Amino acid sequence: MVEHKPAGLTFEQAAAMPLAGVTALLGVRDAGRVAEGQKVLVNGASGGVGTFAVQIAKAFGAEVTAVCGTRDVELVRSLGADRVVDHEAQDFTASGSRHHVVFDLVGNRSPADLRRVLAPDGTLVLSGGGVSDGGSLIGPMGLGVRARLPAPLVRQRFVQLNAKTSREHLATLRGLAESGAVVPVVDRTYPLSEAPEAIGYLELEHARAKVVITVAQPG
Ligand SMILES: NC(=O)c1ccc[n+]([C@@H]2O[C@H](COP(=O)([O-])OP(=O)(O)OC[C@H]3O[C@@H](n4cnc5c(N)ncnc54)[C@H](OP(=O)(O)O)[C@@H]3O)[C@@H](O)[C@H]2O)c1
Repeated sequence: MVEHKPAGLTFEQAAAMPLAGVTALLGVRDAGRVAEGQKVLVNGASGGVGTFAVQIAKAFGAEVTAVCGTRDVELVRSLGADRVVDHEAQDFTASGSRHHVVFDLVGNRSPADLRRVLAPDGTLVLSGGGVSDGGSLIGPMGLGVRARLPAPLVRQRFVQLNAKTSREHLATLRGLAESGAVVPVVDRTYPLSEAPEAIGYLELEHARAKVVITVAQPG
C-alpha cells in the first residue's frame, strides 16, 4: 500500500506515521466514533500511538484528557491535550469525570478501573495487551476478553483494535498532517548501522513517541 508523503513533513516524520498513526485513527475515528464536543481519555498518551491519538481526537473536535508520566506532561500538553494527568502523581481512574471514549494503550488498569471513567454509554477502545497481563495464558488478548465479559449487562461498548491499514487511512492521515492538525513526534533518529542501539533504546530505556532508523540513499 502506497500513499504520497505528506507535504511539509521530513522523511523521518513521515516514516513515523503509518502504523502508529493508523492505529490511532482506527481507535479514535473507527472504533471510538469520536464526535465534536465529546470527551476522550487517552491512557499512554506519550507513546507511539498515543501521541497520534491525542492529536487526532483534537482534530475531530474532542475535549481530550491525556494520561502520561511526569517527564512527558509538557510534551503531551504541546500536542493539544486539554487536560494532562500525570499518572505518577494522580490516579486518573479516581477523577470522577466520565468520558465518551477511553482509549487504553497501556493495559495496566483493569476493565473495572477503566469503566469508572467511561460514560454509561461510552466506548472503551483497547489496543495494548496489558502490562498487568504479562505472561498470562491468553496473553495480550486477556484484557480485551475480560473487558467484554460484562457486555450484555451494560450499554458501554468494548472494542479490541485490530490494526488493518487501508489506503483511505493513510490518505486521511496525510490530510491531517498537511493541514497541520497532526505532527508526528520523533524522539530519536538512528542510522541503520546503529539499529541495535535503536532497538535497545526502544526496549530498555523507555523511549517516548517514535524512534526512526534512517537508511542512506545510494550515492
Ligand atoms: N506503535 C504501533 O504502531 C502500534 C500498532 C498497533 C498496535 N500497537 C499496540 O498499541 C499499544 C501501544 O503502543 P505504543 O507504540 O503507543 O506503545 P509505547 O510507545 O511503548 O507505550 C505507550 C505508553 O505506555 C506507557 N507505559 C509503558 N509501560 C508502562 C508501564 N509499565 N506502566 C505504566 N505506563 C506504561 C508509557 O507512557 P509513560 O512513559 O508516560 O508512562 C508509554 O509512552 C501496544 O500494546 C502496541 O502493541 C502499537
